[in-house]
Amino acid sequence: MDIANSIKDKGFYYIPDFISEFKVNALLNSIKKLNSEIGKDKATVFYEGKKLLLKDLINFKLKKLLKSSQIIFSKENNFFSEISSNIFRDHYLKRIDYYSSSISAEPIINWHNDISYSGAEKVVKKFHHPNFYKLRFFLYLTDVEYKNGSLAILPSSQKVSSAVASLLYDKKIEYKPHWSLQQFCKYIDSSDVKDKLINIIGTQQYNDFISNTGFIFNKNDTDQYDVQSKKGGLVIFDDRCFHRGSNCSKSERSVMRYIYSSNSIN
Ligand SMILES: [Fe+2]
Repeated sequence: MDIANSIKDKGFYYIPDFISEFKVNALLNSIKKLNSEIGKDKATVFYEGKKLLLKDLINFKLKKLLKSSQIIFSKENNFFSEISSNIFRDHYLKRIDYYSSSISAEPIINWHNDISYSGAEKVVKKFHHPNFYKLRFFLYLTDVEYKNGSLAILPSSQKVSSAVASLLYDKKIEYKPHWSLQQFCKYIDSSDVKDKLINIIGTQQYNDFISNTGFIFNKNDTDQYDVQSKKGGLVIFDDRCFHRGSNCSKSERSVMRYIYSSNSIN
């Protein structure tokens, strides 16, 4: 199965050794010279629309600007754009950033999906169209494994979360926070949602999702869905999928993230 079809079906794709160790080290060294800070809110943003490039130019951040253009026009980013064009009808580059996570006992981020309004109590604006989502390209610049910075993705879960998004969009169910996996499981088991969701995805897929996510009420985490990778490996995923960033118990984790978005349909 090719990359685009695998992403459409399973929600993700992994390519080991996407870039060489030599390239990883060169990239990491050059970025660390620009920003050696660690933490999610200390990310180095290379692209977030043309305004950021202009801002860097006005502020004479010329070294950063040069790095940004090398990254934006790299053959890797060109490949990501090509993959995106095979998946989205219409897409654009939303953001490219780099960040490092420090050693911690807490997960980088616990199980969640990215199209659920960050768990807001109420949604004031219109609900997103179910086809409005992002493709995230994670290029690892350090080795990752379970309990040391790896990303875990629940296969095909984008089909369940997008079905819920379409029920909300069509005003067939009442909104309740469902960002975290735990909230989501309770939400889709509620009398308002369950039957309507089964009407879309079928009993088999519903039951599979419930049994595959049982760990969240039991021991809270599992290593079953982790994509363990050497540095230079690439994970591409549909951000409607449930995913989790495990904690870094042994070493800091560094990653380049390229985010492509579908153009809003509504
Ligand atoms: Fe996320």
